[in-house]
Amino acid sequence: MTAVNEAGARVAVVVPAAGRGERLGGGVPKALRPLGGRPMLVHAVQALSAAELVSQIVVAAPPTLVEVVSRLLGPDVRVLPGGAERVDSVRGALRALDDDIRVVLVHDAARPLTPPSLVDAVARAVLGGHPAVIPVLPLADTVKEVDADGRVLRTPPRGGLRAVQTPQGFRREVLEAAYASQDGDLPAVTDDAGLVERLGVPVATIPGADEAFKVTRAADLLFAEALLARRPLAESGRSS
Ligand code: C5P
Repeated sequence: MTAVNEAGARVAVVVPAAGRGERLGGGVPKALRPLGGRPMLVHAVQALSAAELVSQIVVAAPPTLVEVVSRLLGPDVRVLPGGAERVDSVRGALRALDDDIRVVLVHDAARPLTPPSLVDAVARAVLGGHPAVIPVLPLADTVKEVDADGRVLRTPPRGGLRAVQTPQGFRREVLEAAYASQDGDLPAVTDDAGLVERLGVPVATIPGADEAFKVTRAADLLFAEALLARRPLAESGRSS
């Protein structure tokens, strides 16, 4: 982390980590599931801290675990109680940003192996003038649109589809306007850029990273463990 980055504008990252993560099982919130012996959230925050352009990190934690998470992450990370839904957690974290933050990234705790270089690439694209930036990858699978009974309605051409990762980056005022416009009636959007798109703000894409995949199911955790085991000791945060 740096106090002020090369572009002279301060960048913050908001990490919504207050979900229960039931699809993964294990009886602990997903963000606290261990990976290589340390909670996923610790890996994610370590990657954010290693990014050159990031100067503030705010984490929304499960309300009963704020003190525990705060101790895990150390004094440089602000930890707040999350809300009932992800949007509430992000909205609360936005209120806790330092006044001089100009760029805000939102990052899933469930992407513990995200490379710091991807974090910097997103921040740099926003600092370079894009109001909203998301990292994306081409799809390996064909995607079908189905009705409520699972019958196929249509097959969008795969070449025009992208899988979306985090961190997603925004000019602060753009993200705040998107969240302010959603008070009360919350639409079924599954990412922050989705809220921004509703304002008519253009969203740019940059290439994502394979390692920034989201840990959702038990098999993802096995894959993440295998990747982590192949990392050099210093990079993985293990102390040998
Ligand atoms: O459940 P899902 O994978 O969509 O959650 C996405 C992210 O939002 C997770 O990192 C989760 O911890 C976070 N979240 C939150 N507050 C909630 C619900 C989810 O911060 N109330």
